[in-house]
Amino acid sequence: MAPHTALWLRCETKTFEKRAALTPTTAKKLLDAGFDITVEKDPQRIFDISEYEAVGCKIAEYNSWPSAPADTTIIGLKELPVTTDPLQHSHIQFAHCYKNQGGWREVLDRFGKGGGRLYDLEFLQDATGRRVAAFGFHAGFAGAAAGALALAAQKASPGAKLDKLDPYPNEDAMVQDVKAKLGGSGKGVKALVIGALGRCGRGAVDLFRKIGLAEDDILKWDLDETAKGGPFQEILDVDIFVNCIYLSSAIPPFVSPEQLERAGKDRRLSIVVDVSCDTTNPFNPIPIYSINTTFDDPTVAVTVPQGTTPLSVISIDHLPTLLPREASEQFSGDLLPTLLEYQHRETARTWTDAEKLFREKLAAAQAA
Ligand SMILES: NC(=O)c1ccc[n+]([C@@H]2O[C@H](COP(=O)([O-])OP(=O)(O)OC[C@H]3O[C@@H](n4cnc5c(N)ncnc54)[C@H](O)[C@@H]3O)[C@@H](O)[C@H]2O)c1
Repeated sequence: MAPHTALWLRCETKTFEKRAALTPTTAKKLLDAGFDITVEKDPQRIFDISEYEAVGCKIAEYNSWPSAPADTTIIGLKELPVTTDPLQHSHIQFAHCYKNQGGWREVLDRFGKGGGRLYDLEFLQDATGRRVAAFGFHAGFAGAAAGALALAAQKASPGAKLDKLDPYPNEDAMVQDVKAKLGGSGKGVKALVIGALGRCGRGAVDLFRKIGLAEDDILKWDLDETAKGGPFQEILDVDIFVNCIYLSSAIPPFVSPEQLERAGKDRRLSIVVDVSCDTTNPFNPIPIYSINTTFDDPTVAVTVPQGTTPLSVISIDHLPTLLPREASEQFSGDLLPTLLEYQHRETARTWTDAEKLFREKLAAAQAA
């Protein structure tokens, strides 16, 4: 086996982040393949440290990765806390610094100063250019659940807001809670999912099936159905509309303020879940709201004609956090084949491409 196959799962420091890049299941598979795995204690993580210990991982103290041996690779999900400390290790994570996001240069400078490397999870791609691992499915699943909960709240008391959302211990607990709040089942609720063939869209459809919507009441649209161009009356004729498209160019709006105004009382639509969250994109196909909502305050009210059904939008941009266990298992499982190739990272295409991209971005940061 090639050297340098020590992985260190670090803690996550972003508030509410319970997900993990390595789960006890994937850590065990890496150990079986000869990797050396260390896991930091992390009280936020949905998986207990004993679950990692039980499969044979070494355990380290909270946030102790800066003192890990220099040839250890640090793996995590979210950004590191903002500092100017040099980074000497290789890091596998989402760093959100390749698209000139706020602070991108400072993040890359830390790698430049310390001689470390960044392998950004968002840019690990297979031979066809598709991401090897993404969190979409559970974003759609949790988004659809939040939409159904908001509908239940509205039905219980017209105009009522959905209370704070908390992560669920597992998918079944989420499904049972949503069904209970809908009075035992989602039967009778109508939903339209756009982008239904994608990762998020498939998750949204799966949730609607699991809470008991009739198959005919789950409208599944993708590119073929929207080719005629919006706005679409069909959206106003369902209870919940879930947008899951990957927006890549200007398209006519799916739903518009004028359309809502014109429809007046002739509207069934109560809840919009914008999983895609292209909120500030000039081509946002749902230009009826303008802020991202949060788990603390999940809905924003849309202005509609007086005396008509209230309409709310949910636009939370980190929905998989609501299902940290399953979302982590799915993501980490999808990442596993690529992680197994990490022991040959100097020649394995996914890793060499990721390193090339890092070198380009680092050079751009140093030149800026
Ligand atoms: N809110 C969150 O927490 C969260 C989490 C993960 C992903 N996302 C976002 O969700 C979006 C979708 O991600 P994904 O991984 O499911 O992407 P994906 O590429 O797997 O699926 C997107 C789907 O949208 C379809 N589509 C694209 N344009 C369309 C159009 N004009 N009309 C109809 N269908 C169209 C595509 O054909 C595809 O089936 C992305 O913008 C992503 O950033 C949000």
